[in-house]
Amino acid sequence: MRKKIIAANWKMNMTVSETESFWEVFSLEVGETPSAEIVIAPPFTALQKLGDLTSNTQKVKLGAQNMHFETSGAFTGEISPSMLRELFVRYVILGHSERRQLFGETDKLVNQKITAALKSELRVILCVGETLQERDEGKELVVLEKQLRASLAGFSEIDFEDIVIAYEPVWAIGTGRNATPEQAQEAHASVRSVLKELAGDEMAEKIRIQYGGSVKPDNARELLSQPDIDGALVGGASLDPRSFSQIVRAAEPEVS
Ligand code: PGA
Repeated sequence: MRKKIIAANWKMNMTVSETESFWEVFSLEVGETPSAEIVIAPPFTALQKLGDLTSNTQKVKLGAQNMHFETSGAFTGEISPSMLRELFVRYVILGHSERRQLFGETDKLVNQKITAALKSELRVILCVGETLQERDEGKELVVLEKQLRASLAGFSEIDFEDIVIAYEPVWAIGTGRNATPEQAQEAHASVRSVLKELAGDEMAEKIRIQYGGSVKPDNARELLSQPDIDGALVGGASLDPRSFSQIVRAAEPEVS
């Protein structure tokens, strides 16, 4: 059984004081023993505050939204893996489509970043996903395979223990138009079959694949009940503590 992983990607939202207000509500709403692993990736400026707020609970792990692959140096505006480690960051989101589309990140760069993250004992959430045009042309599975093979080139089976994949169709991100559970399941199954080739059958069965793209409290349970959907990467709906905690709860096994 793969433990579900629900991650918040706050993007360029939430000040330090908003982070405090979020936590006041979320920590109560989410309950004492959520069954899913929860990751929150605030902007860099709120990492320290969220780390302080969550330091006495195991409920939430800290995530970062990006990082540079070098340890230090003349890279104005960048953040290194060791800087994240010092703040007790556990996960880093890499290859998000906004990084690819707006900041020109390539699979090769993403590969370098994953290498650096693993070396620093950071876990990776690697985002992959097709554009609307690619889906309309029926190329989505080919695009996913290409992104996975290039971003994950050169890793050994054991490296995959610290990697989570997020399937995020670009056309579903921030649009309110989520992939249907069937579309998402098809993509996830295809991602897992590529992972089998890259990491071996046994490891591929352990790798968690999150769905991301307009996940909301009212569609989360259906998406999360698909056999190969092992969690969610949530943007807009994670900014509200109540809706994010509802999504976390949607990952609990249904009581029959
Ligand atoms: P969204 O964003 O939930 O706002 O669609 C998801 C993401 O970009 O990770």
